[in-house]
Amino acid sequence: MADAWRRTHLCGELREQHVGERVILNGWVAKRRNLGGIYFLDVRDRYGLTQVVLDGSESWDGAEGAEHLSPEDVVSVTGEVVLREQPNAELPTGLIEVRVQAIRKLASSQLPPFEIVRDIDTNIDLRLRYRFLDLRRPDMQEKLAHRSRFIGAMRNAFLKRSFLEIETPILTKATPEGARDYLVPSRVHPGKFYALPQSPQIFKQILMVSGMDRYFQVARCFRDEDLRADRQPEFTQLDMEMSFVEEEDVFACWEGIMGDTFRDAMDVELPEAFPRLTWHEAMERFGIDKPDTRFGCELHCLAEWVPTTDFGVFKKALESGGRVMGFAVPGGGARVSRGALKSLEKFAKELGAPGLAWWKPAESGGAAGPMARFCEGEVGADLLKRLGVEEDALVLFSAGEQALVWRVLGELRLRLGRDLDLIPEGQWNFLWVTSFPMFEWDEEAQRWFSSHHPFTAPEDWELEGDPGSMASRAYDLVLNGWELGSGSIRIHRQDTQRRVFELLGIGPEEQQHKFGFLLDALSYGAPPHGGLGLGLDRLVALTLGLDSIRDVVAFPKTTAASDAMCDAPSTVELDQLAEVHVRTVEAPAEPA
Ligand code: AMO
Ligand code: AMP
Repeated sequence: MADAWRRTHLCGELREQHVGERVILNGWVAKRRNLGGIYFLDVRDRYGLTQVVLDGSESWDGAEGAEHLSPEDVVSVTGEVVLREQPNAELPTGLIEVRVQAIRKLASSQLPPFEIVRDIDTNIDLRLRYRFLDLRRPDMQEKLAHRSRFIGAMRNAFLKRSFLEIETPILTKATPEGARDYLVPSRVHPGKFYALPQSPQIFKQILMVSGMDRYFQVARCFRDEDLRADRQPEFTQLDMEMSFVEEEDVFACWEGIMGDTFRDAMDVELPEAFPRLTWHEAMERFGIDKPDTRFGCELHCLAEWVPTTDFGVFKKALESGGRVMGFAVPGGGARVSRGALKSLEKFAKELGAPGLAWWKPAESGGAAGPMARFCEGEVGADLLKRLGVEEDALVLFSAGEQALVWRVLGELRLRLGRDLDLIPEGQWNFLWVTSFPMFEWDEEAQRWFSSHHPFTAPEDWELEGDPGSMASRAYDLVLNGWELGSGSIRIHRQDTQRRVFELLGIGPEEQQHKFGFLLDALSYGAPPHGGLGLGLDRLVALTLGLDSIRDVVAFPKTTAASDAMCDAPSTVELDQLAEVHVRTVEAPAEPA
């Protein structure tokens, strides 16, 4: 079979109807069982597994024998499809097997450091070091296939809507998105550096000035920031921008695109429109700007109720301009133990709360919790009515400065939602959060920062008043409590852009140096425009029910931002450094 090794069928393809056919399969030896001199092999490729049988009568290309086959060897088998004596109902190919007439080993494998099967509990470092084997597992192959299907569906959805796919540079100038830049030294310009894009933000705005009207890109973004489960230093955005639009146009466009994508890639029908919530409303109701609306337990302002109780801490919080808020878990009275409440209190304190007041209106033997004596009779009944719950509830309170109260209750709500299993599976709660604050004050740096980025339009073009109370035209697309995408209506007026830079402490010279080309472009007829960048890795992970985006990235970085397989970053030769005019400063020695 010198030339006749190439497959006629895939390993997931053969069925009863193929019985009697002569076929050639190529794949990896997944399993080898020896039953009294008869060998049963599972041969695997991306499409599935097929059992093949070697009874000793087969011919070998090369002096081999079944006893020399190891797991993960690559083989080509030629044989006849027959019905199995013992069908395997779990396998799509489980009705048949292939009686091997000829076999050829195409490549040998060392013993892999972990088994190439769907479920393994190997630690992630080893999996990343041997990613080529990890990606051979059916589980990872399916995840990457899902990712590919998703991107394909999205691409089609954009093209169908007259968007142009346009690539923007990777070697470029810094775009501020709030993280550190990855820098690339220039060989031909000594002492100068490119920055890898944190996003294509400025380029896509320039494309609007150029009249491209509708742009999208599957864009690689680079951010030197601390990693978390939902963050990689290198990740992919589905980035888009459109001209002559306001918020509602961008929302409607994405609702259509998400609808098409979920239908094509997952066979899921989404609602035609997603709910809209202002940032302030999101914070008031959920204590967080990316609410998980799959369950209730919403926050309530208790300012009107506080005067009816005698709890001094709450009264003082209101008097000093703070907030008192709370939320209730229906049925939580019996479901949340004292021990669990202790750990919730610890959690609240770690978030900065002075304590955690709670109340169970009707624990067996009467009301319980630090708030019980402040919630007696009418006072408590009134509170339950305000919270819309019955006596079987658990009520949690937080008092203090507004941002703290939101944070503490928002996090407690999410934690109880998870701990008590209040979050239903299989639900896709998309949500638009709008009207984010324009600026945030940074106490340490003593200056304003953009909440989104400096190119976001303010709700009031004149930018009058206190920067801290200005609303922006930024929005987020939220899915099941994750920030999936961010965008805004942009500043298309040069004067407004200059004014925003000024408010951010970027003087005229720095404006010219860093953003001169954008300011220039804005003076040559920039259409009103807006757009959004969606985190593709997050969307793919979420749609697979995964917590970490690492599992949907083929070659992700470790938490230390390195590539464990090819050992990047790594040192380079001195003459290579000299070529790009870079000298390294050795890390200072550890103090003795
Ligand atoms: P933003 O910085 O909010 O906006 O990013 C948009 C989306 O990208 C995803 N994302 C990430 N995913 C994985 N790892 C990371 N380190 C990471 N950082 C961000 C998130 C996020 O919502 N230029 C603007 C978009 C615009 O205004 O059009 C931007 O980049 O899902
Ligand atoms: P104290 O009167 O300080 O002993 O507090 C009574 C209860 O209220 C305790 O359970 C505290 O944990 C809780 N508590 C104190 N301060 C706050 C606050 N700012 N917000 C919520 N609960 C608080």
